[in-house]
Amino acid sequence: MKRVASAVLLFAVLGVAAASAQDINADRAAVMRANGAGVAALRALTTNFDAAAVKVQAAILAGNGAKIAALFAPGTDQTNPQASPAIWTDAAGFKVAADKFTADANALMTVSDGAGLTAALATLQSNCAGCHKAYRVAAPPRPAP
Ligand code: HEC
Repeated sequence: MKRVASAVLLFAVLGVAAASAQDINADRAAVMRANGAGVAALRALTTNFDAAAVKVQAAILAGNGAKIAALFAPGTDQTNPQASPAIWTDAAGFKVAADKFTADANALMTVSDGAGLTAALATLQSNCAGCHKAYRVAAPPRPAP
């Protein structure tokens, strides 16, 4: 009886751990997709400049920077095969990368025309590429048919 109870408890605990790993990885992917959507919206605004609309997207991206720092913080789940172990072995470096992304997103707030936005967007996007190069593991290629 006691053994059954502890087996049930063990399954419950494992179930919760699996669910939260899934949740955090879904949250991480959602933030990254929001980054993609934000960049696309800003790219459209380079030719159709609207300062208020730029600020809305900049605020979303800056918020995403803070979320990235939190979602990959020390002690968070490391089971996502696309998240490099370097995120946690070099947690300080990862935090610097996330904070720089946040700062460059905030800098978008100050642009005053399409050319300024184009330049600031290029700076912001160098963060995507830089962080992915250092801390993201590309999905394995699909096997040849
Ligand atoms: C500070 C680090 C960092 C920055 C900055 C960053 N990313 Fe990521 N990104 C990651 C990591 C780590 C992964 C892999 C883990 C994952 O997919 O959750 C990832 C994965 C992704 C994915 C795949 C998501 C999925 O469905 O699994 C997309 C799309 C993406 N990033 C877009 C962007 C864009 C666009 C930007 C810039 C506007 C950006 N990222 C900035 C770290 C970063």
